[in-house]
Amino acid sequence: MVQDLRRISGSPLIVNTGFSSVTDRRTAADLVGTGQADAVAVGRAAIANPDLPRRWQADRPEAFPDQTTFYSGGATGYTDYPVDDVPDGNSSAGRLHR
Ligand SMILES: Cc1cc2nc3c(=O)[nH]c(=O)nc-3n(C[C@H](O)[C@H](O)[C@H](O)COP(=O)(O)O)c2cc1C
Repeated sequence: MVQDLRRISGSPLIVNTGFSSVTDRRTAADLVGTGQADAVAVGRAAIANPDLPRRWQADRPEAFPDQTTFYSGGATGYTDYPVDDVPDGNSSAGRLHR
């Protein structure tokens, strides 16, 4: 259905993958690379990693989002995640995963 809407509208399509699992770099790249979407809306990883494009480009570890701060209405959990300021290994960011 999504692809039908895309074809009929003729407009660029931004998709998301829902909330069942956090969208990762490979999933996003596959969706664009296989032509299923023009772009992918990334939520949780983008919240936890203010420099997410750079981390994905450099294959850097990511910080985990703290879901207890989602929709809290304040800045906590939205603007206080650290950037990955170590250019070549051993990030100083806390909760990391690949
Ligand atoms: C805390 C939070 C706030 C969000 N706010 C919006 C929003 O304002 N508008 C929107 O279109 N999607 C919003 N989303 C949805 C994300 O854009 C994304 O589609 C969804 O989180 C699934 O992608 P993910 O696996 O990368 O998190 C939000 C998601 C989260 C977790």
